Amino acid sequence: MTRFIDFPSMSRLVRSIGAARLLGELADALQEDFLRWPEFDKSPRVGSHSKLGVIELMPVADSRRYAFKYVNGHPSNAARALSTVMAFGALADVDTGYPLLLCELTLATALRTAATSLMAARALARPGSRRMALIGNGAQSEFQALAFHLHLGIEEIAVFDLDAAATDKLMRNLAGWPELRVRRAASAAEAARGCDILSTITADKARATIVTPAMIEPGMHVNAVGGDCPGKTELHPEVLRSSRVFVEYEPQTRVEGDIQQLPADFPVTELWRVLRGDARGREDPMQVTVFDSVGFALEDFTTLHYVFEQALRLDVGEDIALVPPGDSPKDLFRHARAAQGPAPARGGVTPRPARLAGERVPRASHPGHCRR
Ligand SMILES: NC(=O)c1ccc[n+]([C@@H]2O[C@H](COP(=O)([O-])OP(=O)(O)OC[C@H]3O[C@@H](n4cnc5c(N)ncnc54)[C@H](O)[C@@H]3O)[C@@H](O)[C@H]2O)c1
Repeated sequence: MTRFIDFPSMSRLVRSIGAARLLGELADALQEDFLRWPEFDKSPRVGSHSKLGVIELMPVADSRRYAFKYVNGHPSNAARALSTVMAFGALADVDTGYPLLLCELTLATALRTAATSLMAARALARPGSRRMALIGNGAQSEFQALAFHLHLGIEEIAVFDLDAAATDKLMRNLAGWPELRVRRAASAAEAARGCDILSTITADKARATIVTPAMIEPGMHVNAVGGDCPGKTELHPEVLRSSRVFVEYEPQTRVEGDIQQLPADFPVTELWRVLRGDARGREDPMQVTVFDSVGFALEDFTTLHYVFEQALRLDVGEDIALVPPGDSPKDLFRHARAAQGPAPARGGVTPRPARLAGERVPRASHPGHCRR
């Protein structure tokens, strides 16, 4: 049986655990898996690009589990009252290929992206960072704000979006955390002034320049999340040139990240090396660090694992018969054969069977329970 988590079930799961706790636990789980980086079979995601957006497939596996995510990016969707980013994915058992989990990943992606930003900032931002700017106040923004407030100690956030209604929504949603001061800025430059961490999470299928060199102050950490696709950037190239730049998976970020604007030999450091202590992170308090985030399949692998464990623990979602029952695997044809009624006459119309064998299967327990 495969556990199925649709959007309402994911929402119930997140509410049961609490977004605050979940962000922290997910950041810890991500760090555990990033420390095992060499154990994963990795590849850059495969994108199918169109005029208005991209649809991507993101696979990754270790020796026990395989995961993939389907995700889109359509900045123009917002004008049609549709989500810019939507996703779903699966977790499977490597030994048998059987799917363990089929899962919505839109809400989960917002959580994992914020948890990944948090993991990077813990390693790269100046200790004692208290002020953050948040440019782009759309679907992802609250998750970023809360991850940094609750788990990094950010006390004040200056927010800016071209769409004032998006900022209104963000401020409304963050009102439940009175210890977090949220200040509306008149521009991205004003928001950035005096901040320790500059987060950009805008959506525009363009070589945008959200962050200019003039906005950068010594010691800042730039959490650049929205430039994640060929032809879609947020940082002026000079910002990158004058910073120490960290990436998730270099072969993918060279094509999709803000560093796509720079020559292929521009030096970058993969984050996992810093987390393992194999490479230096921030070298001094005045250095500017950039996390050029694009989103890597391993982050979804970790998230699917986490969701699977929690869904079984909290009994969220349902078990579905996504694959044939295991009683007679070589006789697949019996599921296509009419279960009852006469065989059709040659050339005649086939009567519709009352039901196909194995169509409804009762709920069962999960033999493929994960390790975490
Ligand atoms: N790196 C990752 O892992 C990752 C994961 C998820 C989403 N993303 C990216 O994050 C971005 C935001 O996603 P979302 O779901 O919040 O999208 P969204 O459409 O809900 O919000 C984007 C916001 O950016 C604002 N914006 C656009 N241009 C701007 C500008 N020049 N200045 C200020 N604000 C501007 C829009 O008005 C909108 O409110 C997208 O580009 C998406 O592809 C990255």
